[in-house]
Amino acid sequence: MIIVLYTRIPEACSVDKYNLLLNRLPTGCHDQINRFRTMNLKLSRIFGKILLLESFKRIGVRDFNLSQISLTKYGRPYINSNAHEVDFNISHSGEFVVCAITKNFNLGVDIEEMVPVDFSDFSHILTPEEMNDVQKAEYPLHKLYSYWTGKESVAKADGRGVSIMKDLSINQGTAHINGCQWYLKELDIHSCYSSFLATTDNTLQVSVEYIDIVY
Ligand SMILES: CC(C)(COP(=O)(O)OP(=O)(O)OC[C@H]1O[C@@H](n2cnc3c(N)ncnc32)[C@H](O)[C@@H]1OP(=O)(O)O)[C@@H](O)C(=O)NCCC(=O)NCCS
Repeated sequence: MIIVLYTRIPEACSVDKYNLLLNRLPTGCHDQINRFRTMNLKLSRIFGKILLLESFKRIGVRDFNLSQISLTKYGRPYINSNAHEVDFNISHSGEFVVCAITKNFNLGVDIEEMVPVDFSDFSHILTPEEMNDVQKAEYPLHKLYSYWTGKESVAKADGRGVSIMKDLSINQGTAHINGCQWYLKELDIHSCYSSFLATTDNTLQVSVEYIDIVY
């Protein structure tokens, strides 16, 4: 089972409410979050961590705390004492934050708000065939973002991030890199956002749930 939890960041947040939210996290996280410039970026980090704590409960791991997280040399968060073989990944864009978690498999998740972009800026990320597919599509912007978020979900599952996106091509919902096959699944989060999940197992059930973070 893959559990995907997502939430929406409030448009405005008073300093008092911000402090209440921040205090739901251990003090060790506060400096890192306070360093972000805008309220949206700060809240996206807080909500991501709150979703992560909730995800661990949902997957049945009760003894998880945020100090168990380490980062790879590429900045990918992972659990340093991973007796439960859990993998998770977080993504934020615009007003949304998504967190995916599973046991025994690797995964990556990406969400992007589909704001208009110059398609030529993506010629280094999409293959000529993919770019052609985008241009022929009924909704080219949606198609472009599908390729982008699909590839970024694989790049995040792999852990090396955007540097490998140019080496990925997506064919019938799968992508290959370094001998590993990744299966892509589109997540229906919001009509103005594109979101994809990449996993090494095609048969896992995916449960997607909106969580209202009350503050
Ligand atoms: C990972 C990456 C693709 C994220 O891009 P993005 O669209 O801006 O961000 P998203 O919102 O989708 O994802 C951010 C989240 O992904 C996770 N993340 C960070 N680095 C990651 C990586 N290399 N692989 C997978 N997930 C990663 C984090 O949980 C982060 O959220 P948090 O900071 O709140 O914990 C991009 O930052 C990247 O390519 N990083 C690797 C770059 C690198 O080599 N860094 C080395 C120095 S640390």
